[in-house]
Amino acid sequence: MTRHRLGVLGAGVMGTAIATLGIGMGIPVVLVDVDDEKLATAREQIAYQRRLAQLMGSLPREVEPGELVTTTDVADLRDTTAVVESITEKAGLKYKVLAEVSAVVGASTLLVSNTSAIPIDEMADSVTGPERFVGVHFMNPPYLIKTVELIRGPRSSDAAIAAATELLAALGQQPVLVGDGPGFVINRILQRMINEAARIVEDGVATPEAVDAAFTGCLGHRTGPLATADLIGLDNVVDSLVVLHERTGDDGYRPCDLLKEKVASGDWGRKTGRGFFEHGGTQ
Ligand SMILES: NC(=O)c1ccc[n+]([C@@H]2O[C@H](COP(=O)([O-])OP(=O)(O)OC[C@H]3O[C@@H](n4cnc5c(N)ncnc54)[C@H](O)[C@@H]3O)[C@@H](O)[C@H]2O)c1
Repeated sequence: MTRHRLGVLGAGVMGTAIATLGIGMGIPVVLVDVDDEKLATAREQIAYQRRLAQLMGSLPREVEPGELVTTTDVADLRDTTAVVESITEKAGLKYKVLAEVSAVVGASTLLVSNTSAIPIDEMADSVTGPERFVGVHFMNPPYLIKTVELIRGPRSSDAAIAAATELLAALGQQPVLVGDGPGFVINRILQRMINEAARIVEDGVATPEAVDAAFTGCLGHRTGPLATADLIGLDNVVDSLVVLHERTGDDGYRPCDLLKEKVASGDWGRKTGRGFFEHGGTQ
């Protein structure tokens, strides 16, 4: 019997995947979104993702699934033991939602952000009890990739790091502890690489296929930067680059025109069926 009751804010690509992880490990989940349509499809999507993870051997088959509650009301998070915020990568939205959540949950509830790039200490200003706030950067999809960045902000307490480590163990995840700062470790490097890869295509130096073939064939990467960008979602890539550019002033993070054009024309990658590449479904 688990002692965890997990809240997840945001029923998008990552929120539903984190909910899948919780439910698949027998932890009850309250999933909150402002968009009724997202919530309407979340249950089916989570069931599909759980079956896929079980088939791949990365979620147990014998565990009774945790209960799923979907809601638009943040107050439904009041009885949770931990809340993972995984809404759109816009700092203002995150400040607002974190303030709302910390007002409804108990004082001992662990608060986590799955932000890609916004420094934890910046968001901690919006949280009541900033010592219980940490970052966990889950990989996409977390029910198949079992390592996360665990981000310790300057105000995160030892107790919060211990609680997050314990929660991650219950979710079958292995943390790599890192410090705070725009993009932490992975996205400080990865987002710049994606931007440069897109700029290479924009400049006509190579096709998306050639860029990715060079990374997979020559360097042995499992996925090229542009297929990775399509998996993340080009809308989220541009949002993350804007966060990084605004906070570092480094032009390597200024989203290139091709990325912005793709986002403007609705070619967001896997989630819309087309990005740098064509994708069969919209899963
Ligand atoms: N996509 C990835 O590969 C990836 C990986 C790791 C971390 N992240 C981070 O995870 C977070 C979510 O990314 P995503 O790819 O799932 O985005 P997404 O666009 O698929 O989903 C975001 C969801 O947040 C919801 N939302 C917006 N404002 C809200 C609010 N106030 N309350 C509740 N829900 C709200 C939206 O309706 C949407 O369903 C972002 O911070 C992103 O940077 C993304």
